[in-house]
Amino acid sequence: MFFKLFPFTLVTLITLTTFKVSYIANGPCVRQLTQPFNISEEPTWDDRIKLLYFVDILAGRIYSYDPVTTILNHIQLDGYVTPIIPTVHDTHVFVAGLNRTLVAIRWYPKGSRLEAVGTLTTVAKQFPSSQFNDGKADAKGRLWIEIFIGGGEVHQILTMSSL
Ligand SMILES: *[C@@H]1O[C@H](CO)[C@@H](O)[C@H](O)[C@H]1NC(C)=O
Ligand SMILES: *[C@@H]1O[C@H](CO)[C@@H](O)[C@H](O)[C@H]1NC(C)=O
Repeated sequence: MFFKLFPFTLVTLITLTTFKVSYIANGPCVRQLTQPFNISEEPTWDDRIKLLYFVDILAGRIYSYDPVTTILNHIQLDGYVTPIIPTVHDTHVFVAGLNRTLVAIRWYPKGSRLEAVGTLTTVAKQFPSSQFNDGKADAKGRLWIEIFIGGGEVHQILTMSSL
């Protein structure tokens, strides 16, 4: 498994102060916002509701962070979770990778209640130990997602339409 290559990686969130001010004053400022996570990835800013999303892959958690209130919420899924992708039409509906299954989830992201999870599709059925990794949606609504086939020996990029 690819995680075993980095068993003790701790990832923290950092922020840069407003570029103009900090450039003139002391240069960029980096500060820790949350506690460390094991494998925290997929930072995604939703400008519509001003929340930062990210995952803790090993813990199976999806987090939302509100930089104004500094409140951190999360939901718990059963498996390795990555990526997390907001959808265009509803800020309470997301697409996420859960192991090698793409799921749709309904979650009010300023809280910690997972309202619904539905399977969209499962890939690499002949390789049960496969897992999704990085992924993003493009401006045309296509999802580009990387998958580790067979526990990490082969990496493939999948593209799926109309998400
Ligand atoms: C990281 O994962 C290991 C193994 O699952 C666990 O024992 C440890 O508590 C985790 N650490 C953090 C910071 O989540
Ligand atoms: C994801 O994989 C983990 C580890 O194999 C397993 O415990 C979990 O049940 C799986 N989740 C789903 C939704 O199949």
